Order: sequence, then C-alpha cells, then structure tokens
Amino acid sequence: MTEPCLRSAARADLPAINAIYNHYVLHSNCTYQTVPTTEQERMAWFDAHGEKHPVIVAELDGTVIGWGSLSRFHLRQAYDHSVEDSIYLHHDHCGRGLGGSFLKELLRRAKELGHHTVLGGIDSSQAASIALHEKFGFVKVSHLKEVGFKDGRWLDVVWMQRML
Ligand SMILES: CC(C)(COP(=O)(O)OP(=O)(O)OC[C@H]1O[C@@H](n2cnc3c(N)ncnc32)[C@H](O)[C@@H]1OP(=O)(O)O)[C@@H](O)C(=O)NCCC(=O)NCCS
Repeated sequence: MTEPCLRSAARADLPAINAIYNHYVLHSNCTYQTVPTTEQERMAWFDAHGEKHPVIVAELDGTVIGWGSLSRFHLRQAYDHSVEDSIYLHHDHCGRGLGGSFLKELLRRAKELGHHTVLGGIDSSQAASIALHEKFGFVKVSHLKEVGFKDGRWLDVVWMQRML
C-alpha cells in the first residue's frame, strides 16, 4: 500500500484542510469551535502562519488525509518562542499511527525553527490525543476544569508541554 507523504501545505490544500477540521467542529469535542470555519477564515488563518509557524499536510494518492500546524501560543511578543501544535486527521485515517508521523515532523520543524517549547491544549476526554502527546515526551502541566461548554456538557482542558 502507498504510504502517506508529509509536506508543507499550499493554498490549494485549504478546502481539504477545512473539510477535515469542520467534521470535528460538528461531531467532536476535540475542538471547542462550534461553528464551522468558512473558506475566507481558513485563508486568513493560513496567511497568518508565516515561515515560523508551518502548516503541513499528509497526502495519499493525491488526496489530503490530514494536517498539522504550529501556531503562536500567545500574541504578546515575549511568547515568540512558544508554539501550540494542532493535528487533525481525516476521520477515516485515525488510529493507524499517522498522528505520530505528524507530531514527529512538527517537533522536528519546531526545533529547527528555533522555538523553545511546544504546548498542546487537549480536551480531557480525548484519550488518543493525550496518549499521542505522552508518547512524544509531552507532560501534563495543567488541568482546567469546565472551561468549555459544547453539546450540552462542560468540558475540561488538559495542557501538555514539551521542551525542545
Ligand atoms: C488525535 C489524533 C491526531 C491521533 O492520531 P492517530 O494516528 O489517530 O493516533 P495513533 O493511532 O498514533 O494513536 C496514538 C496513541 O494513542 C493510543 N490510543 C488511541 N486511542 C486510544 C484510546 N481511546 N485510549 C487510550 N489510548 C489510545 C494509541 O494506542 C497510540 O499509542 P501507541 O502508539 O503507543 O499504541 C487523531 O486521532 C485525530 O486526528 N483525531 C481527531 C482530531 C483530534 O483529536 N486532534 C487533536 C486535537 S488536540
């Protein structure tokens, strides 16, 4: 079977990135967004990710099957060397280890780009995401109680951090 190839994202990938993400907006607590991202918003998001904050995709047989990114952890300047990782696989491609390929590549790029630390904010019920981050050396640094409310339920966020 062909292996997915990881590469930097291009503007042409944005519809696929958005479709993958919006599935989780509507069907999961893994993102606290409740309203789907529009194409315009996705374009602005992509443009805001400069060289220091890459967006990458996995392509399989010409189809984007997942994406990952490093985003600023916070807007204030002193946070310049801290990034937050995001990984969203198409729901048909979860549970096969592709998340690990993304996290490995994002950590490699984060180090190469001179970042100092990577954080992940994860809904506390997302066992696969927490296990994935633990596997790559992230440790739990906080547990925020009931900071989210989606689909009629209060949600806790776990923050995980890895120094580079
Ligand atoms: C979270 C996500 C990126 C993980 O990627 P993946 O390729 O599906 O994950 P993997 O198959 O590599 O599994 C990661 C680890 O979690 C473990 N795991 C999977 N499901 C689990 C569960 N329900 N409970 C506990 N551990 C679980 C796996 O065993 C694996 O550990 P191992 O390699 O030591 O066996 C992917 O599932 C995804 O995109 N999910 C939807 C979006 C999302 O939640 N994104 C993260 C937002 S913070």
